[in-house]
Amino acid sequence: CEKFTVVMVRHGESEWNQQNLFCGWYDAQLSEKGRKEASAAGKAIKDAKLRFDVAHTSLLTRAQDTLQSILEVTGQKDICIQKTWRLNERHYGGLTGLNKSETAKKYGEEKVKIWRRSFDTPPPPMEQDHKYYECIVKDPRYCDGPKPDEFPKSESLKLTIERTLPYWNDVIVPQIRQGRKLIIAAHGNSLRGIVKHLDQISNEAIMELNLPTGIPFVYELDKCMLPLAPMKFLGDPETVKKAMESVAKQGKAK
Ligand code: 3PG
Repeated sequence: CEKFTVVMVRHGESEWNQQNLFCGWYDAQLSEKGRKEASAAGKAIKDAKLRFDVAHTSLLTRAQDTLQSILEVTGQKDICIQKTWRLNERHYGGLTGLNKSETAKKYGEEKVKIWRRSFDTPPPPMEQDHKYYECIVKDPRYCDGPKPDEFPKSESLKLTIERTLPYWNDVIVPQIRQGRKLIIAAHGNSLRGIVKHLDQISNEAIMELNLPTGIPFVYELDKCMLPLAPMKFLGDPETVKKAMESVAKQGKAK
């Protein structure tokens, strides 16, 4: 039967991941470890002999740099790269810049888990007097969108999916159907949204999915764009499991 392959990867560890800060639309850079994860991701993709025609990424540097590093390692720097705010990380609202563990100490781990992982409870909004409001809202990279009335103040996974899925359906799916080989370098929560859609994961079960940084995963899709098998990580299962657990633990009070 006809089958289509698509590769996805969450960016490598960022400096804000390293400091355990809520990041969202803040443009954190990759950490040293994150840069290594990105080239290791490239190596894993090269070893798996995966080639691409088109790459999709967000407007945030950590995802773009991860993609560049992968394409460098795989020798595919010249392919077409499409960038969109629709693949950005979920906007963390008023939590942006706060330490996840300290926030759990202050508000409780359950509350932080709801803010981080619930399907439809958004974090508190980012108000105009927030430390990072200006540098995000006035960033010229957003001159082509989102439109002022679409610009998020904070996003739940549900809201993230509402702006990511149109891009998946209208831009990515037609390319997949044309037989183009794609890589999508994006973020923990924009990718959780796509995975939820593909695997038809319930609003409750999606709470337990934590995507690790810098480990690519592959989907084989049928002609209806349904997965023929579970996503396959290009990494050894024990490492992937540990990396997922450590993402979950970021919300612990310690
Ligand atoms: C962030 O935006 O802080 C993270 O990269 C994703 O965070 P989460 O795992 O806490 O949702």
